[in-house]
Amino acid sequence: MTAHYKVHGDIAVITLDNPPVNGLGLATRQGIAHGMEQAQADAAVKAIVITGAGKAFSGGADIREFGSSKAMQEPNLNSVILLLEKSTKPVVAAIHTVVMGGGLELALGCHYRIAAPGTSVALPEVKLGLLPGGGGTQRLPRVLGIEPALNMIVSGEAIKSEMLAMLPGQKLFDAISASAESLAEEALAYARSVAATRPLPLVRDLPCKHPQGDAYFQFTRNMVGAMSKNYPAPLKCIDAVEAASKKKFEDGMATEREIFINLMWTSESRALRHLFLGERAASKIPDVPSTTPLREIKSIAVIGAGTMGGGIAMNFLNAGIAVKMLEMKQDALDRGLATIRKNYEAQVKKGKLKQDKYDQRMALLTTTLSYDDLGTTDMVIEAVFEEIGVKEAVFKELDRVMKPGAILATNTSTLDVNKIANFTKRPQDVVGLHFFSPANVMKLLEVVRGAKTALDVMATVMAVAKKIRKTAVVSGVCDGFIGNRMIEQYGRQGGFLLDEGCTPEQVDKAMEKFGMAMGPFRMGDLAGNDIGWAIRKRRSVERATMLYSKTADLLCEKGRFGQKTGAGWYDYLPGKRDAIPNAEVVKMIEDYRASKGITPRKISDEEIVQRLVFALVNEAAHILEEGIANKASDIDIAYIFGYGFPPYRGGPMLYADEVGLFNVVQAMHRFAKNPHDDANFWKPAPLLAKLAAEGKTFN
Ligand code: NAI
Repeated sequence: MTAHYKVHGDIAVITLDNPPVNGLGLATRQGIAHGMEQAQADAAVKAIVITGAGKAFSGGADIREFGSSKAMQEPNLNSVILLLEKSTKPVVAAIHTVVMGGGLELALGCHYRIAAPGTSVALPEVKLGLLPGGGGTQRLPRVLGIEPALNMIVSGEAIKSEMLAMLPGQKLFDAISASAESLAEEALAYARSVAATRPLPLVRDLPCKHPQGDAYFQFTRNMVGAMSKNYPAPLKCIDAVEAASKKKFEDGMATEREIFINLMWTSESRALRHLFLGERAASKIPDVPSTTPLREIKSIAVIGAGTMGGGIAMNFLNAGIAVKMLEMKQDALDRGLATIRKNYEAQVKKGKLKQDKYDQRMALLTTTLSYDDLGTTDMVIEAVFEEIGVKEAVFKELDRVMKPGAILATNTSTLDVNKIANFTKRPQDVVGLHFFSPANVMKLLEVVRGAKTALDVMATVMAVAKKIRKTAVVSGVCDGFIGNRMIEQYGRQGGFLLDEGCTPEQVDKAMEKFGMAMGPFRMGDLAGNDIGWAIRKRRSVERATMLYSKTADLLCEKGRFGQKTGAGWYDYLPGKRDAIPNAEVVKMIEDYRASKGITPRKISDEEIVQRLVFALVNEAAHILEEGIANKASDIDIAYIFGYGFPPYRGGPMLYADEVGLFNVVQAMHRFAKNPHDDANFWKPAPLLAKLAAEGKTFN
């Protein structure tokens, strides 16, 4: 049972009990309906309290029902709310910890609400490209007033119960309990105190008017519209709340229903829901059971205090985990420490970090020049130079000093994790933890699973990722792992487009219009064009046959490495990040084009987007097929959290699904005929060809 019924004297208590957050799945809804029936039938019961067991009143809809017909199955949420409203005996919601989405809508159907202080209150549906569909847009404005309610509905953000209780005239909470602990008792007493009250108050009967009426809604539309360009839901939330203020309650409910169903069918909402579920699914590894015992990680060591090492250390300090940082020389250690300090101080200055928190974090950080000091740490992350010889020396040292069972991680971005594991006598303890730069900011973490990595090491690092608030995606071992292996093909297409007639600016603009946070050339300038250059030099020996535009190499030969040198594909003014097109670079591209005998042609934005995105998709299909990624949604998550892919498109794989894999394959056949592109690459990956032929999708 996911809802319990118990009578305390003359009060019936219905307790939602569907861990983790008392989601309002079908069984829970049935449980509430059943409890209501029992309470109505029992003459000894004078009033009813509804509450939640464990860590929530209710977090809302059961995400496991998402996209299935179960969510609509009777009793659906609106029917349950009607049951509460129609009850002849008073119904009191006893709210604590979390009341969100459908949970809040359920509470708004009760006659009275008493909340514990510290409860997080939200209608977060907008974050899934939807609006509250259980009367939230109609009832919340009636209890809070239109402005605060609309703010909550459009932002989806949570507000604490005690803050809401201070709003003048609010009718959301009839009482705030003295504490979370006393809520249950106080709710029973409250129910007794209103047991004889008639008529019973209903939120639907409250007035809902804004003094400025139309003007207010117009102002709000202007503001919200400008801030939510690619997302239809926020503006639709305004329509629904406006209906609450202008229509009869039932008609407003019908408007909410209609908008909800329309939003459910938008590609943006599909993308956001895909993302929501995909992020949760990414933490699950098929052959690693959730019951796998974890290794204890209380302290870590970081080897190398450079760009990555410093950022990695900050993640752990932020999470309250002690960090010991090792370098070869004192001055490198001092530099690394100073950078961390400077980063934190900037946060303190901006008011984003309190001084005492800063002090606590710095106190967790120690430094050393000696491997012998690392023996007691539970995990080590290596972030030294990207050279296999250096990695070998480091891992041999780690194998010597680390205690048995310690996890040995490498942050390598291009080297073979299996090879690194085999430098030790404990390859089962070695794993790749590929952070993205800046490591203290970027959400994505690729967890690279070696051939011999132990299951409990995988389970532990996934848990650690959560603790340091990263979104982790598991990748197998291959050149570039998931993200960079795909981005290489994307970058290669960018190069071919220059050869054929584009400027870097044209390509970037097209991709930014598509929704990428940054086009490929601006991204190259940010990351440093020299990184790819070094990789290509290394590869030219291994893969001499790979076709690519040499423009990026020519650019690097001019020392134009990107933002860090003030010049890359674009020019940059000191301290500024605005990309200024450079005539010399354009001339360099034209000369290269001429040297290859290519006559430039006008290339449409559509072709630019398709070639770049489908290049990601085709490589991703190979990655899936090879088992490097466990599932398509992992790839989407990696691209959204690590590469600036627009969330409202749901990632490259969902985008391909939406376009239709048949259409994607047709486009690839067209691209393969382009004499200046790589026909070989555009052969659709077998998995992609198969899915397209069967009319299936990746997800
Ligand atoms: P970096 O050059 O900024 O820092 C490397 C640090 O390691 C230097 O401070 C150096 O003194 C130290 N070091 C070198 N050999 C050492 C040794 N034997 N023992 C102790 N310390 C040693 O390099 P960065 O950018 O931080 O890269 C580090 C690793 O992270 C590389 O494997 C790189 O491929 C990887 N990585 C880099 C990313 C980036 O965007 N920079 C992104 C993801 C991974």
